[in-house]
Amino acid sequence: MFYIIILTFMTIQERIDELRAELHRHNYNYYVSNSPKISDQEFDFMMRELQDLEAAHPEYYDENSPTMRVGSDISKEFVQVDHKYPMLSLGNTYSAAEVADFYQRVKTSLNEDFEVCCELKFDGTSISLTYQNGKLVQAVTRGDGTHGDDVTENVKTIRSIPLVLNKGDYPDEFEIRGEILMPWAVFDELNKEREQREESLFANPRNAASGTLKLQNSSVVASRKLDAYLYYLLSENVPCDGHYENLIKAKSWGFKVFDQMRKAKTLDEIYEFINYWDVERKNLPVATDGIVLKVNSYRQQRNLGFTAKSPRWAIAYKFQAERECTRLNEVTFQVGRTGAVTPVANLDPVQLAGTVVKRASLHNADIIKSLDLHIGDMVYVEKGGEIIPKIVGVDKEARSMAGEEVNFITHCPECGSELVRYEGEAAYYCPNDSTCPPQIKEELSILSAVRL
Ligand code: IVH
Repeated sequence: MFYIIILTFMTIQERIDELRAELHRHNYNYYVSNSPKISDQEFDFMMRELQDLEAAHPEYYDENSPTMRVGSDISKEFVQVDHKYPMLSLGNTYSAAEVADFYQRVKTSLNEDFEVCCELKFDGTSISLTYQNGKLVQAVTRGDGTHGDDVTENVKTIRSIPLVLNKGDYPDEFEIRGEILMPWAVFDELNKEREQREESLFANPRNAASGTLKLQNSSVVASRKLDAYLYYLLSENVPCDGHYENLIKAKSWGFKVFDQMRKAKTLDEIYEFINYWDVERKNLPVATDGIVLKVNSYRQQRNLGFTAKSPRWAIAYKFQAERECTRLNEVTFQVGRTGAVTPVANLDPVQLAGTVVKRASLHNADIIKSLDLHIGDMVYVEKGGEIIPKIVGVDKEARSMAGEEVNFITHCPECGSELVRYEGEAAYYCPNDSTCPPQIKEELSILSAVRL
């Protein structure tokens, strides 16, 4: 909604430039620093708005626009490998109506009976495994979809990935794709340890899994107890025409496959699957963020083909993040070890996604401003894949007498120094790294350890 309001004050070109800059920044946060600042849904909405504007205004074409690529997780330390088959992403949908559109599009294009395989969308990091004569020979990350990092040594430490297959009718050479995941229990334990060591926490199991996979020391990777679900078999000679049937085969060869996937013949059966797993997924040991729907027959998949970025035969349906409304009592500001100042909302306690939430992140000064926050406001708190809930909106109609407007502070709450904002950064920093207590905390503890 915020973006629509802005549009009325901006030219189309300014809005396109702004969206490109924002998406480049969030792409970097997500793929390079492993610390996303916005939800996937917010990212997708921005991307869609940009795609629509670019389609309507081809005169603003830019070969480096974020819409030109699917993102990259390449890091320098690993050998780069070309994917034999490109690793594409899936188009996202957020409503039953959009799922129905997908179903109708497939029905019209195929003009014959078809089945849809319904699966969970695992929220980890994707991997492509190559097997030759029943042995794992290579594991490659998605990278930019065309080539990725060879992380074979790290992947070999994941116990649920078979190094040698059980006897079976697998092709001499094939690829199998899936998702590497950090189970919730391992993630919670890892963050607890990091908290004790005063290290920065992983925002969610997805970042923890992709961060772990890129570690240089595979024995540390082994200690992180990653898991993997496989969901797509590729080969010149797959054993069956059905995707579901191929995965059942893969299961018998030794792969971990989500065996509660279902083949649906009707849209109602698809909705049934979605509604069931929207609730039941909370009992799973790993994070999921939606459902994936795939036309089951490989022959029909070939007929439907691909767009530049994603298959026409598959789509993701993203679950809604859980959201509650509660009262904003106070905003406090925390200074981290780097001097970055984080605004924290203190709330009336509210039950959200299985925990009681009293505090939520407000991220930065721009977000506070765009929310037009006042003390006493009824605010919407959302918990998606992130461990720290965040404020996503204000119920302005519930505002009777507006309390004090929330403004970002100008001086450090710890040492009183004037805050600075570096060019291109959203955060404010306390520049006093020589005497500001939270910034010298580590130095102090090292000094006292030396004195002891
Ligand atoms: S199929 C060509 N199935 O979602 C289609 N992907 O944007 C290949 N994902 O990069 C993907 N669960 O990392 C597929 N059951 C599932 C999935 C799944 C999670 C991830 C995958 C992919 C992204 C799609």
